[in-house]
Amino acid sequence: MSALDRCYNINDLRLAARRRLPRGVFEFVDRGSEDEVALRNNRAGFERIKLRHRALVDVSGRSLATTLFGKPASMPMAIAPTGAAGLCWHEGELELAKAAAAAKIPFTLATSAMTSMEKIAKEAGGRLWFQLYVWKQRELSYQLIERAHRNGFEALIITVDTIVPPNREYNPRNGFMLPFHATPRFVADVAMHPRWTAGVLMKYFTTIGLPRYENFPEPFRRPVTSDASVRDVMRQETLCWDDIRIFRDKWPGVLMLKGINRPDDAVKAIEYGVDGLIVSNHGGRNMDSAVASIDALPDIAEAVGERATVILDSGVRRGSDIVKALALGAKAVLTGRATLYGTAVGGQAGAEKAIGVVRNEMDKTMAYTGCRGVEEVTTDIFFGDREANRLRGRVMEPV
Ligand SMILES: Cc1cc2nc3c(=O)[nH]c(=O)nc-3n(C[C@H](O)[C@H](O)[C@H](O)COP(=O)(O)O)c2cc1C
Repeated sequence: MSALDRCYNINDLRLAARRRLPRGVFEFVDRGSEDEVALRNNRAGFERIKLRHRALVDVSGRSLATTLFGKPASMPMAIAPTGAAGLCWHEGELELAKAAAAAKIPFTLATSAMTSMEKIAKEAGGRLWFQLYVWKQRELSYQLIERAHRNGFEALIITVDTIVPPNREYNPRNGFMLPFHATPRFVADVAMHPRWTAGVLMKYFTTIGLPRYENFPEPFRRPVTSDASVRDVMRQETLCWDDIRIFRDKWPGVLMLKGINRPDDAVKAIEYGVDGLIVSNHGGRNMDSAVASIDALPDIAEAVGERATVILDSGVRRGSDIVKALALGAKAVLTGRATLYGTAVGGQAGAEKAIGVVRNEMDKTMAYTGCRGVEEVTTDIFFGDREANRLRGRVMEPV
């Protein structure tokens, strides 16, 4: 029985990933920021929502299929951008992208990925989205999106919630720093994880040498050990609405903003021609006091209506979470860690396992709640009007 066979849910995959990865890498993937309140609240937000099952509906022909931006997806889910899949598994981004293509859901490639967009486009296929961290030198960003367009990426996601570097105190504590350098602590950590060392690190060393940020524009396409100035140029403090106007003019495909938390920002984005809004607190990895995405979702979805596609990101670990997000107005969800854990345990097969687990759970939740298709998922599935109202923020005023 393989490690994957022993995983029945995302938490099993998480625990298996913890055994396999050096502590520094695992915690970089797994943890939040500061006191990890936002991280916990993302889960608490989902867990608070109670559903009621509907009896005696013939759900035998049910389907999870949907359309996202006019194209089919086998379920309302896409892979979130994470710059870490290539650390979890050799060429992990490619493995994850192949799993997404096989599952017929979109894959998002991150700016800081270690596999080039050219390689992903050529070898993975499927529906591809590209996530952009806007560079201080804007011209570099324009070159990057031009490159993404040339390579057939259908959507551009601009991340707008990473204005300053977050406080992730465990990284320096673990000796795990970006850019990488061989701190004694991290070297000891790596030495205790021979499977990862042989299967990931050595494979890079014996093929390409040190992994590079393959999607950074030249002359910044340097190894992950390069000095901090490589990442400094990505600082987002000056990012503003005027930039969005320019990106809208330059990008001919679907444009999304990732990291929307407020209805007024969402409405403004629509005025700037944005097609999709990703309600996200970055998986609890940035501002620790951030509202849980699932709690922010209803007001945003209501303000947006049919004018743009709303996607929920942060905290999804179970298929029932997807059903809850749909009921609160999302068209789909993104998964970050859930599919990363799978990649860390088994590359493409592990990512497919993670997607399959969540799909199966979603399918069962649809059946229990009597929903035969995603269009039938509404707040009607919530327990009682009071619960639906509370979720929609109506009775959440201070007492
Ligand atoms: C290890 C890791 C790296 C990430 N890197 C990026 C990134 O480069 N760009 C980005 O927009 N979001 C990044 N994210 C955030 C994810 O896109 C997503 O918002 C988050 O993981 C969602 O929360 P979840 O992990 O609970 O699903 C990263 C997340 C993780 C866990």
